[in-house]
This record gives sequence, C-alpha cells and structure tokens, in this order.
Amino acid sequence: MTYLILGGNGQLGSEWNVALSGKEKNVYSFNSAELDITNYDAVKAVIAKIHPDIIINCAAYTKVDEAEEDRKKSEMINHLAVEILSKVCADEGIKLVHYSTDYVFSGEVQDQREFPDGYPENAVKNPVNHYGKTKLNGELAIQQSGASHLILRVSWLCGAYGNNFVKTMLRLVQERDTVSVVNDQFGAPTYCSEVVEQTMKLLENEQEGVFHLGSEGIVSWYDFACRIFELSGVDVKVKEVSSSEFKTKAKRPHFSKLNTTKVEQALNAKSLHWETGLDQLLKTINL
Ligand SMILES: NC(=O)c1ccc[n+]([C@@H]2O[C@H](COP(=O)([O-])OP(=O)(O)OC[C@H]3O[C@@H](n4cnc5c(N)ncnc54)[C@H](OP(=O)(O)O)[C@@H]3O)[C@@H](O)[C@H]2O)c1
Repeated sequence: MTYLILGGNGQLGSEWNVALSGKEKNVYSFNSAELDITNYDAVKAVIAKIHPDIIINCAAYTKVDEAEEDRKKSEMINHLAVEILSKVCADEGIKLVHYSTDYVFSGEVQDQREFPDGYPENAVKNPVNHYGKTKLNGELAIQQSGASHLILRVSWLCGAYGNNFVKTMLRLVQERDTVSVVNDQFGAPTYCSEVVEQTMKLLENEQEGVFHLGSEGIVSWYDFACRIFELSGVDVKVKEVSSSEFKTKAKRPHFSKLNTTKVEQALNAKSLHWETGLDQLLKTINL
C-alpha cells in the first residue's frame, strides 16, 4: 500500500507520520513548503510520480478567526484544492481520506436539545463562520467527485504534536496566575492518536462515507481546562467567562458535540472517554 500524506507537518499530519513510520514502507509525506495543495500542477505531478493507493489529506486552513478576513485563501485550501484533489482521486482510483470539522454544524441551543448525545452525521449543516463554510464546501466537493472516500469530522483536535488547546493552557499557566476560559461552549475533544487508529481500522474494514470521530462525554472548555490543570498538578486560578465576554472574530458554535455511534458500530469498539484520552495525552506532551 502506498500512502501520500498532505499537510504532514500539522498536528494530525505529524501523528500520521509517526504512526506509519516503521509500519508501512511506502509512505510519502509533504509539508506545506514541499507541496502546496493549491498548486494543482504540483499535486498532480506528485500523484503521477508516486501512484498512491491512499491520500491522507491533513492539510487545511485551520485559523478559524483569520479565515473571516482571509476568505479567499481559506476557500482555496479548504474547498477548491480539495475539489481538484478529489477529482484526481476519482480519475486515478485513489482512496481519499479527508478530515472535516464539527463547525459544519450551527451549534444552536435547540440542536443540543434535539441531539443531546451529539450531532449525527446526517444532521442539517449550517456553519456559523467562514472556516466552517469552506470545510463544508470541501466535503460536498468530495461527495460530488465520485472518488472513493472517507470524510472524518473531528472536533477540538488535540495531540502530542503541533498546537492545540491542551498545550496552550499548559503554556499560559507558565506566564499567568489566572486563566480565563469560556464556560458556554460544549463539545468533546478528539485525540489525534485515536483519530489515526480509528481511521486505519476504517480503511482496513473498507468503510466509505462520512463518520464522526471524537471522545465519549460532553464538556465545556472551562471544565476541560480545569481537568487539564488538575491532572497536570498545576495550581492556577481558572476564571469562567461567557462567549460574549470573550470576543473573537469568528462566531463559535455553542454546541459542538459529535455523535460517534456510527464509527463505534463500524469498528465494534467504544471511543475513549475525553478524560481517559486527556490523561493519556498529558503523559506524551513535552512543551
Ligand atoms: N485543530 C482543530 O481543533 C480541528 C478541529 C476540527 C477539525 N479539524 C480539522 O482536522 C484537520 C487537521 O487539523 P490540524 O489541527 O492537524 O491542523 P494544523 O495543525 O493546522 O495542520 C494543518 C496543516 O496544513 C498545512 N497547510 C496549510 N495550507 C496548506 C497548503 N496550501 N498546502 C499544503 N499544506 C497546507 C499547514 O502547514 P503550515 O503550518 O505550514 O501552513 C499545517 O501543517 C483539518 O482538516 C482541520 O480542518 C481540526
């Protein structure tokens, strides 16, 4: 099996590289400097040269606030490049693994009432920020391309590599006595190691289509932060703030929990609880 990893330097791309190294021989991984996915000719040339069986697309424009202003670039990376990539995959018979986001959903309070265990894969999509819109457009392009694919939506992604909320919290406490965290946005972290593991199993089982990957349980960012500090033995004051007090350029969904029943049934295995995953992750993090 020949793998091509795009965005190989991000948090998920790095996790894929580590997971496949030593296990698979034919793994080609490119970071953004080596292969810009918006350079369609370059992407096509690499595919023509290495003939991958599977493309793992971890490349994305992930700066949610900047995307509000950098609209063209986020659309290019998250939608148009994905459209071209999926068409090449369809033409060449390559399986495309693509990651998407909880932000394709609106996250309104009434959705939390309707889906207390999280959004199912087929719930109505209605992103509240530009990043979410570009990611949804990317998903739709893949589905229309005819390529064999897995679209895996993840939320609050955290891993040992790159940047994420867990690392930010641990860094902030080194600089401050008090950390303010929003208490009115609810969801669940998705851990990169579990994402890679579940994706590999879905590939082995020749699964297709859209799946939600994420931890069991629902938590607010505030409670998540408190647990990070508790498990790390850090003594810091955590101040609860509302989203209206913590202004950001991009609107964030109030409710972001993804229902993971479909993947659990496909793999016949429960997802980790968010606290168990956090405990495991903290043991691997070096700041
Ligand atoms: N992080 C989250 O909380 C979160 C939540 C939900 C969904 N997701 C989704 O999960 C996936 C993985 O996210 P992540 O956290 O691993 O993201 P990340 O750490 O930001 O990594 C994204 C990678 O894509 C690369 N990239 C950006 N533009 C590119 C281009 N034009 N060509 C090639 N590579 C490019 C970036 O390189 P540079 O750094 O050099 O630009 C970076 O290495 C993404 O699809 C994201 O939308 C993430």
